[in-house]
Amino acid sequence: MCGIVGYVGPRDCSDVLVSALTRLEYRGYDSAGIAVFENGKIEVAKTKGRLSDLSEKMEKEGKPKGHAGIGHTRWATHGQPSYVNSHPHSGKRVTIVHNGIIENYIELKEYLTKKGKTFLSDTDTEVVAQLLDLKYDGDPLDTIHTVIRMLKGSFALGIVFADYPDTVFAVRRESPLIVGVGDNESFIASDVPAILNYTKKYYLMNHDEIVKLTHDGVEFFDSHMLPITKELQEADWDMDAAEKGGYPHFMIKEIHEQPEAIKRTVLPRIRDNMPDLSECGITLENIKDFKNIHIVACGTAMHAGMVGKYVIEGLARVPVNVDIASEFRYRNPLVGEGDLVIIISQSGETADSKAAMSLAKEYGAKTLAIVNAKGSSIAREADMLIYTHAGPEIAVASTKAYMVQIAVMYLFAFQLALAKGRITEDECKSLLTSLMEVPDKVEETLEKVMDDCQYAGSSLVNADSLLYIGRGLDYALSMEGSLKLKEISYIHSESYAAGELKHGTISLITEEMPVIAVATQNALFEKTLSNVKEVRSRGAYVILVCDEECHIGSDVADQIIRVPKIREELMPMLAIVPLQLIAYYTSLHRGNDIDKPRNLAKSVTVE
Ligand code: G6P
Repeated sequence: MCGIVGYVGPRDCSDVLVSALTRLEYRGYDSAGIAVFENGKIEVAKTKGRLSDLSEKMEKEGKPKGHAGIGHTRWATHGQPSYVNSHPHSGKRVTIVHNGIIENYIELKEYLTKKGKTFLSDTDTEVVAQLLDLKYDGDPLDTIHTVIRMLKGSFALGIVFADYPDTVFAVRRESPLIVGVGDNESFIASDVPAILNYTKKYYLMNHDEIVKLTHDGVEFFDSHMLPITKELQEADWDMDAAEKGGYPHFMIKEIHEQPEAIKRTVLPRIRDNMPDLSECGITLENIKDFKNIHIVACGTAMHAGMVGKYVIEGLARVPVNVDIASEFRYRNPLVGEGDLVIIISQSGETADSKAAMSLAKEYGAKTLAIVNAKGSSIAREADMLIYTHAGPEIAVASTKAYMVQIAVMYLFAFQLALAKGRITEDECKSLLTSLMEVPDKVEETLEKVMDDCQYAGSSLVNADSLLYIGRGLDYALSMEGSLKLKEISYIHSESYAAGELKHGTISLITEEMPVIAVATQNALFEKTLSNVKEVRSRGAYVILVCDEECHIGSDVADQIIRVPKIREELMPMLAIVPLQLIAYYTSLHRGNDIDKPRNLAKSVTVE
C-alpha cells in the first residue's frame, strides 16, 4: 500500500505531485508529503492526515516551488500515522518516498546505528534513506544498486539526491511502479491513474530496474546497471474514468458503470455466439484435461471465486476449491501437475495472491490470472491471463471489479463445460445469449431498486450487527454483500448458509438483529423462505432480495426488494446490485467517508 509519485518537467511540481497523489489516495490516506527541488535545494512539506490537509498546510505555510520532486500518500505499516512517520524521509544528502515493506529493517537499523546514524521515525523507510546516505559515493546509480542488494522485502522507491538537482531516481522490487512520459516531462507513479491528467504513455518497470528522470528525458538501467530500452505502453483509460463525473462518490459512480464494464469484458470474448478466450491463451484443447481447479484470491476477489465455484462445478462438473490466498500459501496445499490455479485480483499486486501464484507454479500447476490492472505483477507472471475491463476502480470498496470478475467466471465456466463435453454448443450459445442480456438487466435493476435500497439503508442505519443469509449461489453472493456493508458502514455483519442458521447462529436472532435474505434460486427458494420465517418469528427485521416473478405475499418480509429475472445461474449479477446499494446508502446515512473507509486500502501489497 501507499502511493508514490515523482515529476520532472516544466509545470509547478508541487501541484503536479498533489494532483497525481489524489489519484492514488485509494492506496492509503493517513499522511501525505512531497519533496521538491527549490533553487537546487530539497524542500519537504508533509503532514499527518489526507492530501487535503497537506494542501491546506501548504496554502497557509507556502509550498515548495520547483520543477522536480517526489510525493507520497501513506497507509501506515511501521509506526502510527504521525508527522515524523510521514514520508518523505531523509538522510543528509538523500530524500526518499517508499511503498512496500523492508523486511530486514531491524538488522539494517542496528548496522546503521553502529555507524553513527540516528533516526527520527519508526519507519522502515527511514532506514533505507540512511542506508543510501551511508553508501553514497557521489554516483546515485551505483549507490542505489549497492543499497537494493542489501534490502529484503518489497519496495518502490522515489529518490532524490541533494547533489543532483532536478533529477529523480526510482527503483522497484515487488511493489508496482510505472514511468510516465509526456512532452518534455516525465513521471513516476504506483499506478496509471496518477498520470492520466498529463499523459497516457508509460513504461512498466521490472524488478530491480532503475530509472533516472531529468529535464532531458528518462533513462532505464537493468539490475546490472546497463542502459536498456523499454516498450512504451498506452493506457486505454481516460481521465473521465478516474473522475467522479457528477456523482457524489466514486462508489456510486462505479456501481452505475457496471453495465458498460460487463460489455467491455464479455463482448470481445464472443465469436460466432461462442466463447472465445484464445487471445487469453485458453482453448478447448488446453483446458479439457484439468482435473482440479483451485481459485485463490483475497477479499472481494475471493468472493467472486465463490460464485465461480458454484458455476464451474454446476456446469463443467470439475471440483473447485476456493482458497483465501493468505491461507493457501502457508498450508502446503494439495496442488500439483494437472491442476489449474486461478488467481483473481483487481489490482494484480496483492501480496498474498502473488505469493500464492508463485507457489502454485512451484508445485507444477498451471496458472490463470483474472486481473483488472494491465501490466501488473500477477498479470505478467501467469501462464494464462484474462483481463477484466472494469476500468479504474477508485472507491476502496470494490463493485464493478467484482461484477466483471463474476462475468469472467461465467465465460470460463461455459468454455470449460464445453471442453469437458458437459454442455452442447447449443446450450453454450443459449447461456451466452443470456449473459449478453445481463448489462441491460443490470441497468434495469439499478433503476428499479434504487429507492428500495435507500429505504433499506435508512432502516439499517442504527443496527449494531446483522446477518446475510442465502443458499447456493445466493450464499456466495451474501458473503460479498456482508463484506460491502462491513467495509463502509462499519456495522458488524456475517453471512451464513441459510440452512446452517439453526445449528447455532439462530441464538443471536433478536429484534436487534436485522437479516438480509437473498433468494433467487428456484430450487432453494422455499427452503430459504422457511429460514426467513424462522428468523422473523424470533423478532428479526427481514429484508428479502428475490426476483420480480416470485409469488410471495408482501407480508413475507419487512421489506422485499425485487430484481429483474434472468436465467437463474446468472442471477448473482443482478442480485449483487441491491446488496451494493444497501451498503452504500447505509454508509451514507451514517455519514461515513464512503470512498475511503477507515483502516482500509484498496491495494494490499504487504502481507
Ligand atoms: C483489499 C481491498 C479489497 C480487495 C482485496 C483484494 O483488501 O480493500 O477490496 O478485494 O484487497 O484485492 P485485489 O486487488 O487482489 O482484488
